[in-house]
Amino acid sequence: MIAAANRLRGFCGACFGMVIKMINVAIVGTGNISNLHIQGLLCFPDRCKIVALCDIFPEKAERIKEKYGLREAQVFDDHEAMLRAGLPIDLVHVCTPPSSHAKVAIHVMNAGCHTLVEKPMAPSLIECDGMLKAEADNKVVMGCIAQNRFRNSISKLKKVLDSGLAGKLRCAHINSLWWRGHSYYDLWWRGTWEKEGGGPTLNHAVHHIDMLNWFQGGLPVEVSSMLANVMHDNSEVEDLSFAALRYRDGSVAEVTSSVVHHGEEQGLVLQAEKAKIAAPWSCAAELAQPNGFPAAGHNPELMKELNAYYQSLEDLKYEGHTGEIDDVLSALEQGRRPMITGADGRRTVELITAIYKAGFEKCTVSLPIDRMDEYYTLEGIQKNATHFYQKSRSVTNLDSDQEISVGNYS
Ligand SMILES: NC(=O)c1ccc[n+]([C@@H]2O[C@H](COP(=O)([O-])OP(=O)(O)OC[C@H]3O[C@@H](n4cnc5c(N)ncnc54)[C@H](O)[C@@H]3O)[C@@H](O)[C@H]2O)c1
Repeated sequence: MIAAANRLRGFCGACFGMVIKMINVAIVGTGNISNLHIQGLLCFPDRCKIVALCDIFPEKAERIKEKYGLREAQVFDDHEAMLRAGLPIDLVHVCTPPSSHAKVAIHVMNAGCHTLVEKPMAPSLIECDGMLKAEADNKVVMGCIAQNRFRNSISKLKKVLDSGLAGKLRCAHINSLWWRGHSYYDLWWRGTWEKEGGGPTLNHAVHHIDMLNWFQGGLPVEVSSMLANVMHDNSEVEDLSFAALRYRDGSVAEVTSSVVHHGEEQGLVLQAEKAKIAAPWSCAAELAQPNGFPAAGHNPELMKELNAYYQSLEDLKYEGHTGEIDDVLSALEQGRRPMITGADGRRTVELITAIYKAGFEKCTVSLPIDRMDEYYTLEGIQKNATHFYQKSRSVTNLDSDQEISVGNYS
């Protein structure tokens, strides 16, 4: 119906491989993160227009409409009603809580629209599979938010790794260290296996795990982990996890996922054959003396070369959500897939699922995860997950005028 409406407007319709000119966008879920989506979209007024805003609390959508002066946007309280309303919508941004991503995105794609889904793609692999099937069946395009690939420090680190100057990656330390106060988990959908789908391993480290998969070019073959909740007694889910990963080529990685770290010193440290490279940017390179101990003065030539290469790399035109939105709009304009696809989103969920299974079962998990595995479904995860605490306090909304932060990527 929507693709047909697009054809009436003289566009090519929401179909993969076909080119769209002015892209009509709807946002479903007008809470915190919708601000970054709208601010990003508003950077490209010649390429897209926000035509609909939807929230189960329509007054929140009205507030957002007024805040950004989106006079042409129609407000809805139900995404299915929005899809039935006959508006010419090409692209729907799904900014609702994680447990609703699959349902909303599948409805959107079945209605013939492209979609950009907030992280995590969904809390379970079976939902990710359903989303990928809807994308293929409807010949539309799904992008998944992993906006931190569009950070100067991260995209330059990837380029340095790909240059081969440091040699092959052998050991990665991934510090997804965040801090959230006690009231964070008071919001109705947070802190439950059912609605949030997990703690920081799923909802915060999802960013760094996406980057790790991007740097490694694939998933590990073995995962072990330990999960804990050390500071948030209004939450069923973990607030801290440590995972150890082994790859097919023998290289390894460790991932710490946390919302208990004061200072939020996030970063990635990549130990490669010839040098260490890291975000925030630093590098180090050793040379061995004949006795195997590091030579005084290190390897200044390689460090100079690495620093010079890093400094020569151009900054991105747009960072964060705006960078990813620019890429998704370009993909639709050019009839190609976006840089971060549903397959990427699913890969990240698969590694996170393995971390949960390894932690709860106290075992080493092999990847890929089998379709018959109980952890393939959200029900299976819920059944097997440790419920660290009973969530006893729940509020409908936290103050939406207060600042949120989305990470440190200097
Ligand atoms: N990429 C990032 O850096 C980043 C940062 C924060 C949050 N997020 C993600 O964004 C999503 C939303 O998080 P948030 O912090 O904005 O939460 P939020 O609670 O502030 O906003 C979610 C909004 O969705 C609405 N909603 C819930 N179910 C709905 C439905 N079925 N249909 C329509 N509206 C619905 C809620 O009323 C709320 O207004 C989550 O998936 C979260 O993980 C991403």
